[in-house]
Amino acid sequence: MENLDQLRALGLFDSRVPRYTSYPTAPVFSPAVGADFQAECLERLDPAKPVSVYVHIPFCERLCWFCACRTQGTKTLSPVESYLDTIEAELAHIAVHLPRGVRMGRLHWGGGTPTILPPAMIHRLSQSLKAVIPPAEEFEFSVEIDPTMVDDAKIAALKDEDMSRASLGIQDFWDKVQKAIGREQSFEATERCVRALRDAGVVSLNTDLVYGLPYQTVDTVRASVEKVLSLAPDRVALFGYAHVPHMSKRQNLIDEATLPGDVERYHLFCAASAMFQEAGFDAIGIDHFARPDDGLATAMRKGRLRRNFQGYTEDTCGTLIGLGASSISRFDGGYVQNAAATGAYTQRIDAGTLAGYRGYCLTEQDKLHARAIEMLMCDFRIDSRTLRAEFGDVCGALAPIHGTVAAKFQGMAEQMGEDLRIREEGRPLTRIIAAEYDQFRSIGATFSRAS
Ligand SMILES: C[S@@+](CC[C@H](N)C(=O)[O-])C[C@H]1O[C@@H](n2cnc3c(N)ncnc32)[C@H](O)[C@@H]1O
Ligand code: SF4
Repeated sequence: MENLDQLRALGLFDSRVPRYTSYPTAPVFSPAVGADFQAECLERLDPAKPVSVYVHIPFCERLCWFCACRTQGTKTLSPVESYLDTIEAELAHIAVHLPRGVRMGRLHWGGGTPTILPPAMIHRLSQSLKAVIPPAEEFEFSVEIDPTMVDDAKIAALKDEDMSRASLGIQDFWDKVQKAIGREQSFEATERCVRALRDAGVVSLNTDLVYGLPYQTVDTVRASVEKVLSLAPDRVALFGYAHVPHMSKRQNLIDEATLPGDVERYHLFCAASAMFQEAGFDAIGIDHFARPDDGLATAMRKGRLRRNFQGYTEDTCGTLIGLGASSISRFDGGYVQNAAATGAYTQRIDAGTLAGYRGYCLTEQDKLHARAIEMLMCDFRIDSRTLRAEFGDVCGALAPIHGTVAAKFQGMAEQMGEDLRIREEGRPLTRIIAAEYDQFRSIGATFSRAS
């Protein structure tokens, strides 16, 4: 309990800090950086370096109350079909600026629910993408899958398009929790989906779980984890429930009185984390677990773990081209986000421009801070030797922050020569410590809780 008191005193339960899937974070983006910058960045791409591509599908047949993802409900496929028209038009705009020969090393479909697409639309979208950005020799295709919104024909279509990884939304298996978060999903349906994906040859299977949901207790979370382990995933993401009803209105349907308290929530994470590690998973960063032979675990051991908008990744591509409403592209020079609402996104594309409407141009100093924060989030350590190799002597500029952090987080973080290391006991504070390196903290955006 002494450790918990110290974590509390250092802000574990009170801090609202970013998850640092980018630096700077999206609230810092400005409307002054948009489609023109996006065009310049695309034109400057080096065809010798494969790019990653993200496609956002902002549609779901069901709208789960707990979900904070940017998505809209639909019972018919007609808005989805029009959306594919717009994505194809966006690809045509991108093709104008893309240097000849740029290849796609990775493709990820996220949402929303990409598996709302029937087989014909799966083939159509994949072929349209590959026609503009052909796959590189080494190509990986991953898809977020709602196990209640997929069937054998969709899985076969995805497999035909070379899907090699899948990420399944589970959240929790207890029906009382499922009812309270407006997302019902039987273990049997999930198991069927896992079997079909394995039969189709998917090599890496991720499952999403959430702790901090209504009615969860250590015992019920343990029971859910037990079931997840029986599905033999390669990776698990264990997200803390972000209750942000001011941003995601449907969360108002969740009774706040049923949410676990701060300390309970902390114990839920610890209990699930211990079970995954006892089952042989390696802990990855702040909220992932992976089997030792999975690419994420290998990347961590080799110091190659990275963090991007989808969370932890072994993808080292410097460029991510984001397609669809609200998607963010990352270039060497900065970030550009597409118009967020589907209507506004469509209007931009129909007007003949790229969809970027806000973004951020990175300075060399930003890049240094971004890399330091990424190192903390991935490796719990800022390694000065690697930083020096990437940035030269300017990385000395971080030394005063290291000093402040070591003093403020005594016993939890320590300065070792020119390095800063978060100790095992201090890991729950990682986002709070990373925020010390964030030069934009004062902009006052509201983030989810750190614990
Ligand atoms: C795009 S969604 C899942 C894909 C698919 N539509 C499904 O439902 O299975 C991605 C993941 O974000 C996580 N997520 C969504 N809202 C969240 C919240 N409020 N707090 C924490 N995690 C959340 C969930 O784990 C979810 O599986
Ligand atoms: S959890 Fe998945 S299915 Fe549910 S609303 Fe969010 S994106 Fe849609």
